[in-house]
Amino acid sequence: MSISCQKKDKIFHLQTPNTSYVMGVLDNKHLLHLYYGKRIDEYCCILDNFPISGESAFSPIDIPEHFMSTNMLPMEYPCYGSADFRSPAFHAEYEDGSSVTCFEYESYKIFSGKKKLPGLPATYVEEDSEADTLEITLCDHLTGIRVVLSYTVFNHIDAIAKSVQVKNEGAQTVTVKSALSSTVHLFDKNYEFVHLEGAWARERSIQKRPLLNGVMQIDSKRVSSSHHHSPFIALARPYATETQGDVYGFSFVYSGNHIEQVEVNEFDVARVQVGINPFGFGWQLIPGETFQTPEVILTYSDEGFGKMSRTYHKLYRTRLVRGKYREEERPVLINNWEATYMDFNEEKIMKIAEKAQSVGIDLMVLDDGWFGKRNSDNCSLGDWVVDRNKLPNGIESLATKVNELGMQFGLWFEPEMISEDSDLYRKYPDWCVHIDGRKRIPARQQLTLDLTKEEVRDYIVEAVCSVLKSAPISYVKWDYNRNVTEIGSKSLPPERQQEFAHRYVLGVYEVLERITSAFPEVLFEGCSGGGGRFDAGMLYYYPQYWTSDNTDGVERLSIQHGTSMVMPASTMGAHVSAVPNHQVGRNTPLLFRGHVAMAGQFGYELDLNTLSEEEIDLVKEQLAQYKDIRNVIQKGEMYRLASPFEGRNTSWEYVYEDRVVLIYYTICARSTLGKTCIKLCGLDEHATYVETTSGKEYRGSYLMNVGLYFEDKKDYDSFLLVFKKQ
Ligand code: DGJ
Repeated sequence: MSISCQKKDKIFHLQTPNTSYVMGVLDNKHLLHLYYGKRIDEYCCILDNFPISGESAFSPIDIPEHFMSTNMLPMEYPCYGSADFRSPAFHAEYEDGSSVTCFEYESYKIFSGKKKLPGLPATYVEEDSEADTLEITLCDHLTGIRVVLSYTVFNHIDAIAKSVQVKNEGAQTVTVKSALSSTVHLFDKNYEFVHLEGAWARERSIQKRPLLNGVMQIDSKRVSSSHHHSPFIALARPYATETQGDVYGFSFVYSGNHIEQVEVNEFDVARVQVGINPFGFGWQLIPGETFQTPEVILTYSDEGFGKMSRTYHKLYRTRLVRGKYREEERPVLINNWEATYMDFNEEKIMKIAEKAQSVGIDLMVLDDGWFGKRNSDNCSLGDWVVDRNKLPNGIESLATKVNELGMQFGLWFEPEMISEDSDLYRKYPDWCVHIDGRKRIPARQQLTLDLTKEEVRDYIVEAVCSVLKSAPISYVKWDYNRNVTEIGSKSLPPERQQEFAHRYVLGVYEVLERITSAFPEVLFEGCSGGGGRFDAGMLYYYPQYWTSDNTDGVERLSIQHGTSMVMPASTMGAHVSAVPNHQVGRNTPLLFRGHVAMAGQFGYELDLNTLSEEEIDLVKEQLAQYKDIRNVIQKGEMYRLASPFEGRNTSWEYVYEDRVVLIYYTICARSTLGKTCIKLCGLDEHATYVETTSGKEYRGSYLMNVGLYFEDKKDYDSFLLVFKKQ
């Protein structure tokens, strides 16, 4: 059992293979967070050797027996209204208008396995023996509000899943204004706040800033986790690198408004919190009702960012992604978007498919523009009926023809949206998110459907499922191209309007669950104008995600490097596109573009008919090479050896069973600066590794300590080496 409770002092000790997380109950029934970090054998006692001392002047000394104030204490689930003046995890309003809560420890329960979170995506176990769960109940005796804090400890992965259930067991209606999923305390402030900032076509750039006293936060108020701030932060020692130093990771399994924040107080203690953004949030609980928060996955690494990422990769690849494509090799696809945009017909698509089939591509994806009268992005979203002007024989005929080539067929949808110029809007103008009397402001000329309404969710399920049933469709790209404004819904009474943002996200999850479970054979790829909303919550429904609309090889290095902080390669859609690149106009060699895309779920996004014979030969080689190495990239342990954020080159390594793939990219050539040394990681030092093209043999200790030297001779040069362990 990886969870123990020392009865005398009520110390809860959670142990993963290499980490410990400790909480304790003070004699006044406050639940404290005492330690998170490298695994320890035992945590002895609460108040001897306590990490905080001093006087919290102007704060009530509400624990007089120890001359302490709650304001000094590392509260495991801090609530607003008592002597703790920092950001609370819990804040509620009661019927008398007061908003004071005071949680006291009540009981605990330990069991094997992990419960599902109703209506929410979450990590899971297949056998109860994979994890243990601790549930601690705290109670506010005056109001009867209880919170059940849940901690699942994975036995073979250094990860802890935390979530909270709020139960109204009192007699009055309560409005929960904030119920965060996790609070953790670190007992000094010598950390950097690390996060993934971005924008459309520039997703997940790694940002680091030193912690200072006060509050540092990232968030989203877009009803989507967004391109702008991924729901993830790390707290890392300033000296932490890819291979050394303490790094704490916090990844939120949620796709809506989120907040990740650190508050450093006057004692230099850092309170780290993650959860649903309290901004604009309010949730009414009538007596007997409960509210479940999404979960946060915590990990601690004493070997830098690399180990943190590998923990997330393993957990998310094996125990968050579901369905047959979790294990199965995914098809290599070709997508027509950058080849034709919306200007296509059956003949054009078939020409692209025929050429793709001739080089060995498995799946033809038809992107936006196949339905309604959609020749531009100003119309037809919601009308999921084929445009017979473009495809006179319908989707079924096209899909069948593609199948007859020996390829699978895939289709694009954007089910959460509605165009004002659509039959759906003309019939149901109030199905979009709006506030009566206010302008409905379009973005990309579209409005958002109100997924808090049951009839809208049913429509989406019915519309998508009927297309999927009508033709042999093996793949769906689910796009989402705007964020929500004019928030509110007539499906909710005035006192529940603040529930809208979370209810929208629950609506998306419900619709995705219904559709993906009805079509278990279909491969779903998520997309939100590229990699917006590419969060852990979405991986529960889509095994892969379109990482960015930016397909330039150089830009993709940074985007994929940043994304790999949390997301495994198996989830990152990556395609070779045409040059000059459509987003930034850069010309990079096909070899380079291929090597960049091979570091994800490989595909093409261009018309192969436009390539020369030589280029087609290279495409054939790329496909053969990718199919040979893809299990190493998809299932292997990833090591980031050189970062595009730090230098003129990038290098990634993947180790799986007895094979190693090393990719090296020169972004910018250098003159007279010597070579770049790349030291491999994760090898067996005493084993011999053969580089499969040259047949050269190296010892693992040589590759990891002496390394391989690369010359940065040309811009956009790249090498992909495969080693086999003897
Ligand atoms: C945004 C996506 O990211 C693109 O790949 C493409 O599908 C377009 N939408 C289509 O409108």
